[in-house]
Amino acid sequence: MAATSVSVHPDVRKVLFDEDALRLRIRELGAQLTRDYAGRRLLVVGVLKGSLIFMSDLLRAIGNEVDVHMDFVAVSSYAGTASTGTIRVLLDLRENPEGRDMLVVEDIVDTGLTLSSLTETLRARRPASLEVCTLLDKVECRKTPFTPKYVGFKIPNEFVVGFGLDYDERYRQLPYVGILRTP
Ligand code: IMP
Repeated sequence: MAATSVSVHPDVRKVLFDEDALRLRIRELGAQLTRDYAGRRLLVVGVLKGSLIFMSDLLRAIGNEVDVHMDFVAVSSYAGTASTGTIRVLLDLRENPEGRDMLVVEDIVDTGLTLSSLTETLRARRPASLEVCTLLDKVECRKTPFTPKYVGFKIPNEFVVGFGLDYDERYRQLPYVGILRTP
């Protein structure tokens, strides 16, 4: 893996995906989305805040063949709601998704609780289609079955930060994804 162009944060134990690896994979995902949605109008919905950096790169990797629109949602953290698996929508869509092709963009799927609940909520608004694109997938951590259609990288059960992902709102700006050093 090529060296990253910035020095690694001292709180990061190991860089999992550097800038080059992220750029290459996002380019591939963009090409796949361009093929799958060519000639269609696509409402890309980012889940704030974690998806922000991934989404901005992903949107720019989608070709002219797709008529791209963007919107955002924010949901409450699963931490307080893990027992029920339901989430609270803190910031709702501005666009009406009814009858439209939707792509929900997330930073990471862990237990699956957030996205299974969010997609259920969004499906109730009757989009023509709804798929999920996540940068990272901790496949072995599911508490509820959930399979995103588009996945950047499958990762083991480690706590990662950077490229939008945070620990206590820190480290989102790191241009790579790395495993956080535990104290
Ligand atoms: P899920 O409902 O357990 O799938 O949780 C998804 C959310 O948990 C993500 O959107 C992140 O906000 C958070 N999360 C889960 N794992 C990590 C991690 O390794 N680093 C940072 N945030 C994480």
